[in-house]
Amino acid sequence: MTNYCLTCHSGPAASAGLNLDNYTGVRTIGETGRLVSRTNDSQSPMPPSGLMSEENRQKIQDWVNGGYQE
Ligand code: HEC
Repeated sequence: MTNYCLTCHSGPAASAGLNLDNYTGVRTIGETGRLVSRTNDSQSPMPPSGLMSEENRQKIQDWVNGGYQE
């Protein structure tokens, strides 16, 4: 998150009003399914510059599947 997301998704002017600089923010969007869907969406990826490595995307998926361990 820090390396790939916070440039846009942090602070009071976070893109899409989505603040990913804290556990609750990431968990909340994780629970909607959009965290996993957008990080794997080749048409409209997050980060917008292009999909992250398979390994990084798998880490997010595993964290969601594992019950959002803090
Ligand atoms: C260059 C800026 C930028 C970066 C970097 C970025 N985002 Fe985004 N993100 C946006 C913008 C702008 C939107 C709103 C427009 C859209 O949905 O495409 C958005 C929307 C989203 C949404 C949809 C929110 C919703 O409510 O549906 C998710 C989920 C998301 N980003 C996750 C991420 C994640 C996770 C990362 C890091 C892996 C990331 N973003 C990196 C700019 C960025």
